[in-house]
Amino acid sequence: MGKYDELLEQVDALIVKDDWIISNMANTASAIFDGMDALNWAGFYIVREGILQVGPFIGLPACVKIKPGDGVCGTAMVLKKTMLINDVHTFPGHIACDEASNSEIVVPIIVKGEVVAVLDIDSPYLNRFRADEQLFFESVGRKIEKVWEDIG
Ligand code: SME
Repeated sequence: MGKYDELLEQVDALIVKDDWIISNMANTASAIFDGMDALNWAGFYIVREGILQVGPFIGLPACVKIKPGDGVCGTAMVLKKTMLINDVHTFPGHIACDEASNSEIVVPIIVKGEVVAVLDIDSPYLNRFRADEQLFFESVGRKIEKVWEDIG
């Protein structure tokens, strides 16, 4: 069993189809933050009136609204692809919610072709996120998409 298979199973058990999407996101953020090393922020931004707005998360208080195309989150939203940033200080327009952040990964949550939310994970370490961890976060994203689809 791979390092993250167990955590993925844990997340899978926490995500309950009949529960509110916000509750599912809150427990998912908590499981990630608790289950992985060297993170300082883990959570979701949710699209509301066309803008990413902060959702359930663990970490320091964050900026509330991010426009499409702004920062790493808004770029993931527009490009509809995972952004793995080894050094956020080299990313033009990076939004520093927590000065301690040095690397970041953002996975878009896509339902019926539209980005409905993003999963955003920050680390105080440079080069924190590896390819297998990207796959793990993308698998978490697919699980959230599935419950979102079931609800919507
Ligand atoms: N760094 C993000 C903003 C959100 S915080 O990391 C929680 C960005 O550049 O979009």
